[in-house]
Amino acid sequence: MIKVDISNVWGDLSLPDLLALEKEVFAAHKTLDEGTGAGNDFLGWQNLPVNEPTEEMLRIQKAAEQIRADSDVFVVIGIGGSYLGPRAAIELLQGPNHNIGKGKGNPQIYFAGNGLSTRHWNELCRLLEGKDFSIAIISKSGTTTEPAIATRALRWMLERKYGTEGAKKRTYAITDPAKGALRQMATEEGWETFVIPPDVGGRFSVLSPVGLLPMAVAGIDIVAMMQGACEAKKTYDIRSFENPVWLYAATRNLLYRHGKKIELFESYEPGFKMLGGWWQQLFGESEGKDGKGIFPATAELTADLHSLGQMIQEGERNMFETMVRFAPPEKQYVIGPDFKNLDGLNYLAGKTLDFVDEKAYLGTMAAHVDGGVPVITMDVGELTDKKLGELFYFLELSCGVSAYMLGVNPFNQPGVEMYKRNMFQLLGKPGYEAK
Ligand code: PA5
Repeated sequence: MIKVDISNVWGDLSLPDLLALEKEVFAAHKTLDEGTGAGNDFLGWQNLPVNEPTEEMLRIQKAAEQIRADSDVFVVIGIGGSYLGPRAAIELLQGPNHNIGKGKGNPQIYFAGNGLSTRHWNELCRLLEGKDFSIAIISKSGTTTEPAIATRALRWMLERKYGTEGAKKRTYAITDPAKGALRQMATEEGWETFVIPPDVGGRFSVLSPVGLLPMAVAGIDIVAMMQGACEAKKTYDIRSFENPVWLYAATRNLLYRHGKKIELFESYEPGFKMLGGWWQQLFGESEGKDGKGIFPATAELTADLHSLGQMIQEGERNMFETMVRFAPPEKQYVIGPDFKNLDGLNYLAGKTLDFVDEKAYLGTMAAHVDGGVPVITMDVGELTDKKLGELFYFLELSCGVSAYMLGVNPFNQPGVEMYKRNMFQLLGKPGYEAK
């Protein structure tokens, strides 16, 4: 079980304040579980975890084997909920430099269509030069501009390189079962497709084919990951403060009500950055509405202690931290002695890097707590494919409970449409002409 430690959040608050929220968190959990709240047509993410591979998961594994065998590079096209989850999983489990040294048999994985940068596009073209590649197009609506532009360009590249039939075999689409331009295109072109269930929103889709195909291509054990999520579904169903989901959801709401408007979700692992990005979308898009919501920010320690550290320690007292901890890796690095000791580090000789990391964590937490920044600690345990499945589900469930406690619909995102309308008008998209 993921452990949530709230012993470092007190200060202006006390345990009775938290316990006073028991009825509220119970009601929020019940609303989610019984599907009686706002957005209850988007609860399909709760049905995604499975113990045994489904027929679709077997197809995903087969497609992944094919891609691993015939591609040096696999390009995943998608934006927001259609790309953050798989990227987060791959970078957390395999490190931010996971692509180095990879090729056919274990392809490099790049992400496209998550922005409109020409420099990024030029870089991708350079990376694909002379390489065999396949693409996955991920879009639930099938109409999002950024991935649509990348799709058109990459399809043409594939067709030029492999001809129509060859390109067809290297193109996979993950989209709605019936609706949208991508579904239509996939049917017409004869691409292999996987389904995003209509009742699963983008930011809750990591355990659907959206996350599973790229992860399987990266060599992640998707069956173990789903089993982890499946266990999480049972483990975190407890209706009391013994449930770490309750502790996390209720504590962050309590802190918010006491002026802590920013949550800094952080870890001491560089590979965590994209998981932070995934969490940011999950909580930001779910909670930021009706003039409410904790602003989700992320940090990577110790690196960001040398940039954000000053602000955390002495800036406006409007934030709290959620520190995610993982068990130390098996292979340890021991700091060696140096007879000259010019760097003055001999006092650490014989100690592991992890020992130093632990002390940095404890020292930083004490400093921040003293400085008026409450710290929630989330102890995940060993970092495995299965455990990550558990963490994904744990955070999704926490998000649903927390958003209902906040009094908002966790499953819509009306605000995301505003920029699109303006952009389409400026681009002259038919149907969006200025009135
Ligand atoms: O969470 C969401 O719904 C969004 O972030 C979407 O995932 C994102 O806008 C991409 O949408 P689509 O998958 O329809 O291309």
